[in-house]
Amino acid sequence: MAASPFRLGWFGNLTTPEWRTGWSTDALNWSDARYYIDMVRDMERAGFDFMMLEDSLMVSDIYAGTAELELKHAMYAPKLDPVPVVSMLAYATEQIGIVATASTTFYPPYLLARTFSTLDHVTRGRVGWNIVTSSEDRAAQNFGMDKLPLHDKRYEIAEEFVEVVDALWNSWDADAIVADPVSGYYADHTKVRPINHKGEHFSVRGPLNTPRSPQGRPVICQAGASPRGRDFAAKNADLLLCIPNGLEGMKEYRDDIRARAEKFGRNPDDIKVFFVVSPIIGRTMDEALAKRDEFMANKQKNYEAQMVHFAAIMEIDFSVLDPDKPIPDDVTTNGHQGTFEGWKQAFGGRTIKDAASQMRVASMELVGTPDHIADEMDKAMEYVGGDGFLFLAQPTSRQYIREITEGLCPALRRRGLIREKFAHKTFRENLSSF
Ligand SMILES: Cc1cc2nc3c(=O)[nH]c(=O)nc-3n(C[C@H](O)[C@H](O)[C@H](O)COP(=O)(O)O)c2cc1C
Repeated sequence: MAASPFRLGWFGNLTTPEWRTGWSTDALNWSDARYYIDMVRDMERAGFDFMMLEDSLMVSDIYAGTAELELKHAMYAPKLDPVPVVSMLAYATEQIGIVATASTTFYPPYLLARTFSTLDHVTRGRVGWNIVTSSEDRAAQNFGMDKLPLHDKRYEIAEEFVEVVDALWNSWDADAIVADPVSGYYADHTKVRPINHKGEHFSVRGPLNTPRSPQGRPVICQAGASPRGRDFAAKNADLLLCIPNGLEGMKEYRDDIRARAEKFGRNPDDIKVFFVVSPIIGRTMDEALAKRDEFMANKQKNYEAQMVHFAAIMEIDFSVLDPDKPIPDDVTTNGHQGTFEGWKQAFGGRTIKDAASQMRVASMELVGTPDHIADEMDKAMEYVGGDGFLFLAQPTSRQYIREITEGLCPALRRRGLIREKFAHKTFRENLSSF
């Protein structure tokens, strides 16, 4: 491998794949999981470290007070629960890591610890948990609450949640199972302990009834972007997902997270930062540029879909704002605050319509041939210092995945920039192996 290899992850959603072009046969049958199985196999072969599955828990009707446009554009719903799908994806692959999103605001910690411990067992140590605190009152209303707790309060609850979950995962020693026919003991009760947690938000006795899993602690993934979120991520996460703007923003984010990690007594190298990208690939530069023009033209045409999506995740009814004016200063969100601030900064002064139709959910623009993009990614990692990229395509398609896995990944591999193979058995070991 070259001096500075980096890692690749895929942002997956268990939602409708590309259906507008008519090129997809998956528009109606994506939910039987074969589509995702094909996808994860392609990624494993191509050298990806992991596939992450995002999640949310509602059908939004924030935009204009109706779910009509949300369902028309199929942006956030319909969607499947990622947690059970992890088992199928892992069964269909050998070594790639699989990350599922689960919310600390809605899961009880015992159930979450048990579910992810089980997944870690059945995947032989290949699972990760993307910790989210959720960002929509509409989701809260599905769990007996009127509103979500406030943004920073959610992170405070999440801190205690993680403390409980960690204690439960540690409630079984690694050598608790002896399976000794001579003594007649299967498990040694002195190595299995209650946790007796009584905190401000949770009361959990323990121990887990699931033995210690192969990784002990599944890989912890997070995407905090606000100051409070960054602290949470720096303290708890092994793997970070982020969309800072441009090379300077990427470097600032990574340096900041590493400094915060040190403040919490962690080795910053134990945290791997992944930057969201969404490359547009062509056989020639002209072809790639033409594809980008088409992409942007479609975006302008589908401006409404973009706004419906933002309305869902930020719970701001954009339909009542004048699209020909910038976002008024007094508009705030209790949802994705870091994302909202980044968005306002990147497009400050432009009209809402202009900003939304120019919006690319990516840290840097990558347009060109596989070789050109591979060089750009190499240069970016050299400048930023690491650690990897998270590919995001919404909606995605088999055709796009192939462009990445059969076009870009071989170009990266020829340069020694991505892994040839997995040296270890578990996701955690592979993640920290370089
Ligand atoms: C790449 C990426 C993936 C994310 N996936 C989810 C998700 O699946 N579910 C969710 O509720 N939030 C998700 N988020 C939102 C984050 O959890 C977080 O709320 C957001 O980055 C804003 O940070 P803040 O909460 O610190 O303001 C994601 C964010 C990013 C950048």
